[in-house]
Amino acid sequence: MALTEDNLNEVLEDGIDTENPGIYQVLLEDLQGNILKGHGRDYSVFLFLQWKPDDINAAKQWLQEFSKNYVTSAQQQSEQALRYRRENIPGGIFTNVYLTRKGYEVLGYEPYQIPGDQPFRMGMKDPEIRGLLNDPEVKDWEKGYQQEIHALILIAEDDLVDLLQFVNRINQDLRLVADIVHREDGFILRNKAGQIIEHFGFVDGVSQPLFTKRDIVKARTNDCNFSQWDSRANLGILLVKDPNGKTEDSYGSYLVYRKLEQNVAAFRRDKRKLAETLNIGEELAGALAVGRFYDGTPVTKSNIPTYAVTPSNNFNYEQDTQGLKCPFHAHIRKTNPRGDTGRVVSSPGFEEAVAVERIHRIARRAVSYGENDPTQEPETGAGLLFLCFQADIENQFNFMQIRWANPKNFIEVNTGPDPIIGQPEGNQKWPKEWGKPEKVDYTFKLWAFMKGGEYFFAPSISFLTHI
Ligand code: HEM
Repeated sequence: MALTEDNLNEVLEDGIDTENPGIYQVLLEDLQGNILKGHGRDYSVFLFLQWKPDDINAAKQWLQEFSKNYVTSAQQQSEQALRYRRENIPGGIFTNVYLTRKGYEVLGYEPYQIPGDQPFRMGMKDPEIRGLLNDPEVKDWEKGYQQEIHALILIAEDDLVDLLQFVNRINQDLRLVADIVHREDGFILRNKAGQIIEHFGFVDGVSQPLFTKRDIVKARTNDCNFSQWDSRANLGILLVKDPNGKTEDSYGSYLVYRKLEQNVAAFRRDKRKLAETLNIGEELAGALAVGRFYDGTPVTKSNIPTYAVTPSNNFNYEQDTQGLKCPFHAHIRKTNPRGDTGRVVSSPGFEEAVAVERIHRIARRAVSYGENDPTQEPETGAGLLFLCFQADIENQFNFMQIRWANPKNFIEVNTGPDPIIGQPEGNQKWPKEWGKPEKVDYTFKLWAFMKGGEYFFAPSISFLTHI
């Protein structure tokens, strides 16, 4: 029997048991991997394609073959992970296929067959969307992203040599049916402790909506049974029915992709200047911008890093309602206010506010690109290939960027933009002393620059293999 909307929207006590999926079996077999849970490979290549218009059937043929042979399902991903844990056998090549609206059209799909999300239909280059996000003009994006993009192929591996060989091999066939208009090479950046970080140096990927039993059981232990913050999420915020799927439980997810170049040297200079202005240490200054210290310690809980092996995600801002420890503008407070919106005058109340905020959550799947030595401080050529999955782009990624990260008024008047991703940059208010009411004005400039991007849909595998 097919899954119902209730099945998708119920919060499972322990999430989906991918090793014993029960009613979710068909869904997991037909859903692409990397959506429910990151694929975890160290290296990845992103190929942005434009189908050659003269032989669309050949493009379809290629897609079918590639998907049959290589696209990794959520089910396979889970089996590979299990084998790795039990027998130390690496998962090998992992691939995904994502399509844009234009991609669907060129492949001959009618409007009613194309996934219906509004921003997806408009595309990231649309002037209205760019205006809302405050993105740079398309002529200022990297050349490859200025072109019409039809599909994105993600190929990932732990072994870099195997990955590059595989990419070379598929490139030959691919070039017969598509122009590769752009390519990105991504990797997981790590600190000395082996934790995943982004280029500014902060531990990343800590707070995520969790869907699978394995993730939830682990997090529950680390996060004191979710007493302050429940990271579990239902499938309804992540998946939508694939209109072209061939099984009763064919689902897909919308992908937001953005290349964000990080000027690491300038970020560090700005952070030093902020530290001097407030007369505090540089580590605390960085934490006041991000909301967590380099090691992931939430600054609302501590004014020094605590070096936990797994940083806590079990916190909210109830002990910090004035933003004196973690400022309202801090990146993680703007992108996940954990109930703050329930404290503004027009709010329907705290519990309702938390429930609504939770629907805006996104499943982040970013990797880094460029310089891979974290001791270097690149000014250009390095950054984040930001990816996130969701069921509704307008209400999730776009909402987060447009209504929370960018505006200067958020929770309070003149809070200022998110210093990591808020566009345009502007003045913020910083606690002169951690936990004390006096605030100081300082403009932390924006050091992550949007270089191009697009909205995609990750279709079900049965669609791709029958395209
Ligand atoms: C969390 C960095 C772009 C949304 C974080 C964290 C860091 C970080 C260090 C804290 C660790 C964690 O909880 O995972 C960056 C950098 C970016 C970037 C350097 C750009 C170069 C974005 C974008 C969005 C976003 C574009 C979406 C609009 C989030 C969310 C969280 C987060 C939702 C988790 C917040 C929470 O639940 O506490 N980011 N990020 N980030 N970021 Fe970003």
